[in-house]
Amino acid sequence: MTFPFHRPRRLRETELLRRMVRETRLSVDDLIYPLFAVPGEGVCDEIPSMPGVYRRSADQLVLEAKEVRELGIPAVILFGTPERKDPEGREAYREDGVVQRAVVAIKAQVDDLVVVTDVCLCAYTDHGHCGLVVEGRIDNDATLEPLAATALSHVRAGADMVAPSDMMDGRILVIRERLDEEGFEGVPIMSYAAKYASAFYGPFRDAVHAAPSFGDRRSHQMDPPNSDEAVREAALDVEEGADIVMVKPALPYLDVIRRIKDELNVPVAAFLVSGEYAMIKAASARGWLEEERAVLEVLTGVRRAGADLILTYFAKDAARTLRDHP
Ligand code: PBG
Ligand code: ZN
Repeated sequence: MTFPFHRPRRLRETELLRRMVRETRLSVDDLIYPLFAVPGEGVCDEIPSMPGVYRRSADQLVLEAKEVRELGIPAVILFGTPERKDPEGREAYREDGVVQRAVVAIKAQVDDLVVVTDVCLCAYTDHGHCGLVVEGRIDNDATLEPLAATALSHVRAGADMVAPSDMMDGRILVIRERLDEEGFEGVPIMSYAAKYASAFYGPFRDAVHAAPSFGDRRSHQMDPPNSDEAVREAALDVEEGADIVMVKPALPYLDVIRRIKDELNVPVAAFLVSGEYAMIKAASARGWLEEERAVLEVLTGVRRAGADLILTYFAKDAARTLRDHP
């Protein structure tokens, strides 16, 4: 017999008691805020399907990065949309490319902020695929060199960490070797290790104009029903030299986050992606959700699932909430 001796409600009676036995804490230290870089000056335009998120030129990104820094968020991740796209995505690894210039500007003007860069070709290729297309197929091995060149160009510009999101096999090893050869053995790699072929990337693809012009991403991104495979993917990336492994999206894959955390014992990040942001924003705008509470609940849930770090467009909102209602 448990009741009436056992009464779990005793420890829920007051906020002080609840605070004392709380198992999971969300901290501003766990957050990484995504930024979108575009060419030009003075550019700051809102992404229609992502209210509150803007594409910005380097000068405006500096202001944004300062705000992020002042809120206590330790890191940003940069995405870019180039001036021109071509079949090989050459703008991805130009020394004065859109991301490279943004990195230079932010590193020069903002102290104590970890600048991570997303490494992929899809925003730079005219066909919108993450790799080089040969005879209608994405050529894995031919894509490794431009990916390594892209990562190196970001690090040369001053990036503190690179985050390959392309899902080509073997790219972590090739990027690790390239960075090491060039004297950047101290720069960590956060691998998008278990990135699923998801319906939740829609708003992001609008943001960077990177929807594939034919076909889809199912030949390289993971099939949503699989989780053994996600553990294998993450293990391979750790073997190849990844320092942090990421699961993406977050909410449909909380079990995958937990398995990777338990089975690999490495730092795990989760990306609450554009579609996950958009659905909370849209429902809140209609008064169907209480946004602030929904955001904290979701982020805390992702932490409880086992994520050490969360990449989220809600990072600034969450940082303010955590500051104002500790
Ligand atoms: C590019 C990339 C994508 C995202 C991050 N890097 C889109 C995709 O693979 O189509 C998604 C981010 C988001 O939806 O918030 N490889
Ligand atoms: Zn891509």
